[in-house]
Amino acid sequence: MSGSPERAGRSDAATGEEPRESRRVFFALWPDDGTRTRLVRAAKEAVRRCGGRPIAKDRLHVTVAFLGGLTPAGLAIASAVPPVAVGAFTLTLDKIGAFDSTLWLGTSSVPRPLAELEQRLWGALEAQGFVRELRIYRPHITLARRARPVDVEVEPVEWPVAELALVESLPAGRNVHYEVLQTWPL
Ligand code: 2AM
Repeated sequence: MSGSPERAGRSDAATGEEPRESRRVFFALWPDDGTRTRLVRAAKEAVRRCGGRPIAKDRLHVTVAFLGGLTPAGLAIASAVPPVAVGAFTLTLDKIGAFDSTLWLGTSSVPRPLAELEQRLWGALEAQGFVRELRIYRPHITLARRARPVDVEVEPVEWPVAELALVESLPAGRNVHYEVLQTWPL
C-alpha cells in the first residue's frame, strides 16, 4: 500500500494490511454540477461504444494525489497540507483513451497550474512521510471499467477549476461512494 506516513500508522509491513481504522482518501479536482452534465454529454458516445461499466455521474473526478488507506492521524496530517495556491485554471478535456480495461477522458494539454499543483502537493506530502507512486501523473477522468478501447471524437469540455478537494472513498454495496471531506481554493 502506498500513501500513509510512517508516523501516522503505516500498513503492517509484514502482512501489507491497512490500519484497522483505515480511511481511503485522495486529493482530487471535483466538478460542479454544470461541468458534470457537460462531461457526461461529451463522453456519452464513447461510454456507449466501449461496452464497459460506466462510472456514475456523481463520481466523475480527476485525482491529483492518491493516498490510500490512512489512520485518523494520517488523515489529520494530510488535511493540514493544503492550500496550494497555484491559482484557478481551465482544464480542457478533449481526449478519449483506454488503458488496460479503463476508458478515460483526458487532456491533450495539461495546464501548467495543474502540473504545479500536483508537484507542490506531493512535495508537501512527501515532506510529511507520504509515499508517492512512481508512475507519471496523467490527469484523467475514469469513465468506464471493463471497457474496450474506442475511436471517438469528443466535443471538448472546458472545466473551470478553482478548488482542490480531499475525498474519501466509502464502500457502497458492490460500488463505492465518494464523499468530499474538505475543499480549499486554489
Ligand atoms: P483511476 O480512476 O484511474 O483508477 C479513487 O480510487 C481515485 O484514485 C481514482 O480516480 C483512481 O484512479 C485514483 N487512484 C490513483 N492511484 C490509485 C491506486 N493505486 N489505487 C486506487 N485508486 C487510485
